[in-house]
Amino acid sequence: MLEISSISRSELKLAEWTRSIQRSSLQAMLAQASSPDILSFALGLPAPELFPREELAIAAGKVLARGGEVLQYSPSFQPLKMQIVDLMAQRGILCHEKQIFLTMGAQQGMSLLVRLLLDVNSQVILDELAYTGFRQVIEPFRPRILSARVDAETGIDVDAIERLLDSGTRPVFIYIISDGSNPTGLSLGIEKRVRLVELARRYRVPIIEDDVYGFLYYDKSLPPMRAHDDEWILYVGSFSKILAPGLRVGWVIVPEHLVSKLSIVKEASDIDTSNFSQRVISAYLDSGHLDSHLDNLRKQYKSRRDAMVYSLQKHFPKGAKWVTPTSGVFVWVELEDDIDTIAALKHAIEAEQIVFIPGHAFAIDENARARRCMRLNFSYTSLERIEDGISRLGNVVKAMSS
Ligand SMILES: Cc1ncc(COP(=O)(O)O)c(C=O)c1O
Repeated sequence: MLEISSISRSELKLAEWTRSIQRSSLQAMLAQASSPDILSFALGLPAPELFPREELAIAAGKVLARGGEVLQYSPSFQPLKMQIVDLMAQRGILCHEKQIFLTMGAQQGMSLLVRLLLDVNSQVILDELAYTGFRQVIEPFRPRILSARVDAETGIDVDAIERLLDSGTRPVFIYIISDGSNPTGLSLGIEKRVRLVELARRYRVPIIEDDVYGFLYYDKSLPPMRAHDDEWILYVGSFSKILAPGLRVGWVIVPEHLVSKLSIVKEASDIDTSNFSQRVISAYLDSGHLDSHLDNLRKQYKSRRDAMVYSLQKHFPKGAKWVTPTSGVFVWVELEDDIDTIAALKHAIEAEQIVFIPGHAFAIDENARARRCMRLNFSYTSLERIEDGISRLGNVVKAMSS
């Protein structure tokens, strides 16, 4: 029998698309900086101390008491779909449980939709500053990415998208985060939402609407685009940011005829969404704790957001600009011309043990402006440490501009 170890690395032929995969210097820097002493504004992690552990433990106990079947392979747990219908009504979305497909988080929801829609070498439209996790999803298909300009205050430039579509371009889909965008923290106004829905309908181009941050609003909130259209908007939601990402449960809302197709694609990928997690979430929702938990999350994250914005005003150089986010977990900061935030990250790690993500990491094209931007997360770090961290980061940035 052939020993596995005798197959040399060079004989292993990987798929063509993997050749371009390599760990960026940024990833290496961030991995190096993952020690517990590091103060992280880098990832979009929820605050672990706010996970409703006691209520989830009670829910898990109830579920396990029902017998071994709860740990068995199983089709989607129907009661959870009905509870998601109710949850969606809070966001202004009227849907039917037959339009809901349960997934292992939003990431899988997007991945399944992409596998259903995208052919190799097709065209897609993304913000010029895009969630890296979505780019990873589309990469194997080697699509041509048409990037739409992002206005620093109002988000994706709908006129630019209209011009592209008007000129005859027909992307397979457009990917948009309407609330608390990752990375820019921006939320779209009502006019942009409605216009995007009109464009999707007029040009028959679906929009994948990623709404993972939609329930984390701090001032006002608008219904997602899916509330305005049930055919062309393919909605992606998740319990990761509102309960806990470790549960790995999300959902998509799509026209009913796509659900059976999605289930075939999913079966090939991982058979089922965790039966146990679905039932625990369902029991948790049954207990009626979600509304007060969400109120508390919004209150706590709002204080952290305010602390971050206050600290930026106090400790960052005068030329720095940002928009206070009304939803989500990120503040996008633009510095003055001469500062490269990749270099700033290196200094911040070495001198202050602080990490953030430089804007360049999200830029689709070579984008000079993104090079002087940084994405700062405010959900993970405690209120007390935010001002100290931003003040030390401000010192790093000031030292670079002087
Ligand atoms: C914009 C966006 N979409 C999707 C995800 C993935 O969410 P999930 O944990 O539900 O897979 C994230 C995670 O940070 C995200 O920021």
